[in-house]
Amino acid sequence: MTTEQKQLIKATVPVLKESGMLLTTHFYQRVFSINAELKNTFNMANHQNGRQPMALAMAILAYAENIDDPSVLLSTLERIGHKHTSLAVRPEHYTIIGRHLIASISEVLGTAATPTLLDAWTAAYEQLANLMIGIEADLYAAQETKPGGWTDWRPFVVNAKIADTSGNTTFYLYPVDGERVTDYGSGQYLNVRLFMPELQLFQPHPYRLESLSNGLYYSIVVKREPGKLGSVSNRLLDEVQPGDHLDLSAPAGVCPIPILTEPPTVVAHQGGCPMHQVP
Ligand code: HEM
Repeated sequence: MTTEQKQLIKATVPVLKESGMLLTTHFYQRVFSINAELKNTFNMANHQNGRQPMALAMAILAYAENIDDPSVLLSTLERIGHKHTSLAVRPEHYTIIGRHLIASISEVLGTAATPTLLDAWTAAYEQLANLMIGIEADLYAAQETKPGGWTDWRPFVVNAKIADTSGNTTFYLYPVDGERVTDYGSGQYLNVRLFMPELQLFQPHPYRLESLSNGLYYSIVVKREPGKLGSVSNRLLDEVQPGDHLDLSAPAGVCPIPILTEPPTVVAHQGGCPMHQVP
């Protein structure tokens, strides 16, 4: 990117932030009306409550603010990369999202969106997309080479579904292929993907992995989400039975510290992640 382009980007960030909700709402409407297949990748319930719509476009604006030194955002990008790889986001998706972002900026800014400005935003987005595609390629490669690892979605069967007295239900999930499953660390999660007939869409939902890694199966705790339309958790609780199949992403999330089979002797904190030391 040229120095002039960086200046232009920084000058428009405040304007775009002021119109943040307008920009992000417009952006997502555009994405979902033109590329409706992406509704299978996003959790549409998060869009109804307005939580997610801000995240993607706001992250792009935060990047633009730090265009002189994007390295300050690396740990954030790494966290987003984990999220993306657990949802099977691929490089071709970046092209689609970039197209909608630039068109949205143009449509929201109107005549203020000169060709020079749009070129600058295109260059900024491409730079960010390439950074993220690189981070995600490394994460996918690591997932693939881990024993029992995989990328994208792997079919699992519900082996058991056990409710506790607090109303939560633990699901025990075994891979349909009967092969090993990869280990995970404290704080990691995986996404469960279910077909939701009322939406005619696949929908993902993240669940934290809390028990010990065992190489054979995963267990997740599912809590009811009262009144939430299109809730994957409610469908798991009400409709999914032992013997049914689900798609799972591989464990993801920063802080991949092995969950121990023995209690730790030392517990310290480093960079916000719980650290355990084996005796
Ligand atoms: C430079 C481009 C992108 C940026 C800066 C970005 C940023 C973000 C951020 C900040 C989050 C929230 C992370 C969290 O909750 O921890 C997120 C989530 C997500 N992103 Fe991206 N993203 C980008 C590109 C993409 C692309 C190309 C796709 C694929 C279509 C995508 C799909 C998603 C999905 C599905 C989620 C989870 C949202 C949900 O729960 O529904 N993102 N992204």
